[in-house]
Amino acid sequence: MDGSRCAPTDREFRVSDRIASATLRARITDADTAAALIQPGETVGMSGFTGSGYPKAVPQALARRIAGERASGRPFRINLWTGASTGPELDGALAAVDGIAQRLPYSSDPVAREKINRGEIDYLDMHLSQVAPMAWEGVIGTLDTAVIEVSGIRADGSLIPSSSVGNNKTWLDRAKRVILEVNRWQNAALEGAHDIYYGTRLPPQRVPIPLTRPDDRIGTPYLACDPDKVVAVVETDAPDRNLPFAAPDDKALAIAGHIIEFLSHEVKRGRLPASLLPIQSGVGNIANAVLSGLVDAPFEPMTAFTEVIQDGMLDLLDAGKLRMASATAFSLSPAAADRLNANMASYASRMILRPQEISNHPELVRRLGCIAMNGLIEADIYGNVNSTLVMGSRIQNGIGGSGDFARNGYVSIFMTPSTAKDGRISAIVPQVSHVDHIMQDVQVIVTEQGLADLRGLSPRQRASVVIERCAHPSYRPLLADYAARAKGGSYGLHAPSLPGEALSWHQRFMETGTMLPA
Ligand code: COA
Repeated sequence: MDGSRCAPTDREFRVSDRIASATLRARITDADTAAALIQPGETVGMSGFTGSGYPKAVPQALARRIAGERASGRPFRINLWTGASTGPELDGALAAVDGIAQRLPYSSDPVAREKINRGEIDYLDMHLSQVAPMAWEGVIGTLDTAVIEVSGIRADGSLIPSSSVGNNKTWLDRAKRVILEVNRWQNAALEGAHDIYYGTRLPPQRVPIPLTRPDDRIGTPYLACDPDKVVAVVETDAPDRNLPFAAPDDKALAIAGHIIEFLSHEVKRGRLPASLLPIQSGVGNIANAVLSGLVDAPFEPMTAFTEVIQDGMLDLLDAGKLRMASATAFSLSPAAADRLNANMASYASRMILRPQEISNHPELVRRLGCIAMNGLIEADIYGNVNSTLVMGSRIQNGIGGSGDFARNGYVSIFMTPSTAKDGRISAIVPQVSHVDHIMQDVQVIVTEQGLADLRGLSPRQRASVVIERCAHPSYRPLLADYAARAKGGSYGLHAPSLPGEALSWHQRFMETGTMLPA
């Protein structure tokens, strides 16, 4: 040991702290230099899932570069692939400078949403479990560059994932070159919480995935990465930017109450164990409120096999009601992220973050028998569900993992307030303006008005129950009148409809600003 060596400088300390590979330390550079390696027209796979674990510096540097090129009359757009939604420094920054030509598989950024709805971004809204396999099949194109946030690089060049895993494994494998962002903000105690499975194959080589309990670890905690492909390493120290959830209002609390009553009934009838089956909870305020409501419910010890760990799941872990949670990412409010980071060592032992092809895998969701709980935009009287397109055409977010879980879960629950936009829109309509989940994939619909258990019911029986239990009183008589007149027809009485009238509520809203007749 050389006793004459001075104390390490700040810079040396930072570098040695998180980047143990000497090879990759030599590739440290700044975000602008890294972004300059991305060329116009490239397809770029970035990390990020529901506002967690996305790169923060390179996308903003790329946005600055794109703005500069555009100012000089040189168009510059990329195709952007991620795990799911990201944050303002990624989707927001690139959309604001018109830098995105094609986007997949999920986005909730307001700036990007407007551009998608103006036809300025081609958006491929995909089942989240299908993205990695389709990238491997080569049917969605080829990947030029991967930009992946990690929380550290090990001496052997393997990567310590950060707060989301998403499609990172696939992007690192498929991209021709890799840019890494090493984010010191990410909690070092997360190391070991990830489980990266490298056994997925394409048919006909596919084999069963050896996971039979949500707790099973079937892979390694680290992401493999060919060091020869790494063209830049950028250090950051920036938080994930998640928005706070709305405090649960009376409607959210009522929805949570109906679901807990339903689950209690299922336990009493012997159709669910007292600890339930692994729960899956979708994104959004209502889903988060339902999780919080489960804190006072009699089920324990629960497990979760889900896509994201939200605030409500931390509440359940804190209360000792949830034994463990398996997901692919966090989706936390800033306050909950602080809570997680302050107690990471305790939480990390009860959490597993996996690639999204595993967290959402239909084989596993079916095997484990997940209780799928997802939000919806509108449902029709037969129980078909629209999760994505307002008035059949304006994208809200995307289907996300709702299809992965709804079709394959043990029971598939969809929830929503019975009206939107101060009562001007009914969430229960004669016919949905777009179908994401066909009625066979929708077993329970819940609003603050009540819960409709549609299992074992024919379409006409479903219609009576949905109208009676779920519709808002302002719309219930209108729906009952529609259903009665449709049943009075003679063409087809299996799922009676009046095609000329079925979407007239949507048309009326677009023309008058309300679905209610004058
Ligand atoms: N017509 C028009 N707008 C509607 C609507 C309807 N029928 N229903 C809801 N909305 C609007 C709300 O007004 C709100 O708009 P705002 O942001 O302008 O206020 C927005 O959609 C969100 O609705 P909210 O009631 O706050 O519900 P939420 O936060 O629970 O989100 C979804 C509901 C459907 C948008 C959300 O669950 C989603 O994106 N789902 C699809 C993806 C998914 O399920 N992923 C989970 C898989 S693991």
